[in-house]
Amino acid sequence: MCGIVGYIGKRKAFPIILEGLKRLEYRGYDSAGIALYDDSDIKLSKTKGKVADLEAKAKNEINTDGTIGIGHTRWATHGVPNDVNSHPHYSNSGDLVIIHNGIIENYDSLKKELLKRGYIFKSDTDTEVLINLIEDVKINEKVKLGKAVQIALNQVVGAYAIAVFDKNKPNEIVVAKLGSPLAIGIGDEEFFIASDASPFLEYTKKAIYLEDEEMAVISRKKGVKLRRIKNDAVVDPYIQELKINLEQIEKGGYEHFMLKEIHEQPNAIKDTYRGRLLAKEGIVKMAGVDDNLERFLNANKIIIVACGTSWHAGLVAEYVFENLAKVPVEVEYASEFRYRNPVITDKDVVIAISQSGETADTLAAIKLAKSKNAFVFGVCNVVGSTISRETHAGAYTHAGPEIGVASTKAFTTQITVLTLIALKLAKEKGTISNSEFHLYLQELELIPEKVKKALKSEKHIKTVANTYKNAKNCLYLGRGYNFPVALEGALKLKEISYIHAEGYPAAEMKHGPIALIDEQMPVFVIATKKGHYEKVVSNIQEIKSRSGKIIGIVTEGDEDVKNLADHVIEVPETIEFLTPLLTTIPMQLLSYHIAVMLNKNVDQPRNLAKSVTVE
Ligand code: M6R
Repeated sequence: MCGIVGYIGKRKAFPIILEGLKRLEYRGYDSAGIALYDDSDIKLSKTKGKVADLEAKAKNEINTDGTIGIGHTRWATHGVPNDVNSHPHYSNSGDLVIIHNGIIENYDSLKKELLKRGYIFKSDTDTEVLINLIEDVKINEKVKLGKAVQIALNQVVGAYAIAVFDKNKPNEIVVAKLGSPLAIGIGDEEFFIASDASPFLEYTKKAIYLEDEEMAVISRKKGVKLRRIKNDAVVDPYIQELKINLEQIEKGGYEHFMLKEIHEQPNAIKDTYRGRLLAKEGIVKMAGVDDNLERFLNANKIIIVACGTSWHAGLVAEYVFENLAKVPVEVEYASEFRYRNPVITDKDVVIAISQSGETADTLAAIKLAKSKNAFVFGVCNVVGSTISRETHAGAYTHAGPEIGVASTKAFTTQITVLTLIALKLAKEKGTISNSEFHLYLQELELIPEKVKKALKSEKHIKTVANTYKNAKNCLYLGRGYNFPVALEGALKLKEISYIHAEGYPAAEMKHGPIALIDEQMPVFVIATKKGHYEKVVSNIQEIKSRSGKIIGIVTEGDEDVKNLADHVIEVPETIEFLTPLLTTIPMQLLSYHIAVMLNKNVDQPRNLAKSVTVE
């Protein structure tokens, strides 16, 4: 939620910050703003709307020659999206300016204190409270900006990644982090600040990722000085060499990031199992699991915590782990788990799944599990993310940057990692035979080619999308391994086309949702040959006799469903527990094309943000 960018160095800050904000727009896009120092003062330009709106406005409003500046793209928490609530925010004197990603939970009590002392507030934001608190500390305690930030943050409850600078000291920017991500790019006598590394990749591959409760004073002359916010201890910066490149975060000829990411799935899945799945040797090698094998093998139960699409991947994993490795699994919404005092013991293994590795609820669930001594394993995509650092061990999905707000390749690669773990445990426990293990590894290795084949139906899927694009409601049905895919299909449609959709286990339909079915209702039914095929076919009959429109997602060559359904979309055949990796593909493409036909903003759907770093 919210993207922050900053620059201090020899170049003009404006184009760097602006371009950086465009790359971070996936994090929030209801308003944007920039602050630049222009040799005597800090000038702000901000606006409701997108970074492109800011670009047009700022060029006419402020001098864009400065070499120090900060910028922000917002996902509103406190205060509606408008010009005034947009970041950056000045302090009352106008000397200080701040950008902030996160939430100051005790802002109300802090604000009351500051009001008593004569501070005035123009916006409804918690951020304006924070910058005035910093100013108040600076004036009253007669300390430098860095110290003032530190003292102020020790009074704050909540989450933040902030960047602050002072017009009287335009040679340094102070940054701090708790709960929201913040990276510092280290160039040659220049420094970059950003929520992730994408804004500075073309300038430097050297980065420091701040840990929670760390702050840094970044100065043109003295470089980066890191400290702990709580105890003032000096921290030696760990400078990482980044492996991602610019092409990975560009659209590469596709109209949208979402479409590019859908089509990247064959390679993304391959990248996920590369070096881990050794089919010929009959080995699954995963350092995070191998090093902690006893914890996994002796687990009383596995608890999976996640949100959104990652939670759906967890549901698929529940079926896979229980069927293959015979270990009990619970799948929990992280947001519920964190507050309901769950029963967790030191014999439990908690798996936290998160594409971004920054989701606030998942992070809180991890902290709770750790406090109860469970072993916590992370499945993240973003390397170096907070969750990947907070967990005891983990496995990256290696899907590459996912920029479209609607998760696609994150889902299939999460399932791939979790399937590998399940196969490894099943082998170790002897709950599957050697020949089954070999067969499953070989089949998993074939999945990227089969995904490629499933993607070839895109033209036909577009025709289906065109037929149903004006539907007001849709149902998605699946059973067993494909029930979570039904949920995921409905989520994809809702979030990017704003059409109401519900996913159900197919057999649950007759316990209520069947009442909704009439000739206006498209029902997407996953009816692959393996699994509960006959039972799903019966469900299809029930829909047909109530005049519902049926779109069957079927195994190549299926004739029975074809005879009943209004449309069928074929996917290649595979073993049952791998079908979600294929049936998901038409779901993603259907939602994508419906949203495009409805002229929706596919990569940046309304009210959403890629990484949900607030509760
Ligand atoms: O980064 P995470 O995987 O933790 O994100 C969890 C959800 O916010 C995310 O999956 C969300 O539901 C997506 N927009 C779905 O497409």
